[in-house]
Amino acid sequence: MLTEIDHVAIAVHDLEAAIEYYRATFGVEPVHRERIEKDGVDEALIKVADSYIQLLTPTREDSPVAKYLAAKGEGIHHVGYRVDDCAEALDRVKGEGHRVIDETPRPGSRGTTVAFVHPKAAFGTLIELVQER
Ligand code: CO
Repeated sequence: MLTEIDHVAIAVHDLEAAIEYYRATFGVEPVHRERIEKDGVDEALIKVADSYIQLLTPTREDSPVAKYLAAKGEGIHHVGYRVDDCAEALDRVKGEGHRVIDETPRPGSRGTTVAFVHPKAAFGTLIELVQER
């Protein structure tokens, strides 16, 4: 059901500083940048093989990522697992009786379809199910 790691998301205070760190330290550049208004985040995606490092920073104070940074500081925010069918994967999670954040799949960045699974039910990891296309 999980076909690849789609991305590892890292919450940062200063997106430009984080991009520059990856550029200077590892010689990599973002391949995609996007502001997701609904989630209140700016993201930069750095490609690593078939997966991405997703650097995330909040665009407003009521963004979930802003709350995360205030509570826990910078660091790994969530892991995105690639799936063939987001709705099917989400139904399976719910069918097992586990809490989810998104009751139905919704649009993610770069044209993906995504749904978040609740970290309390997933051993402390915020999981995102990511369907490409
Ligand atoms: Co994500």
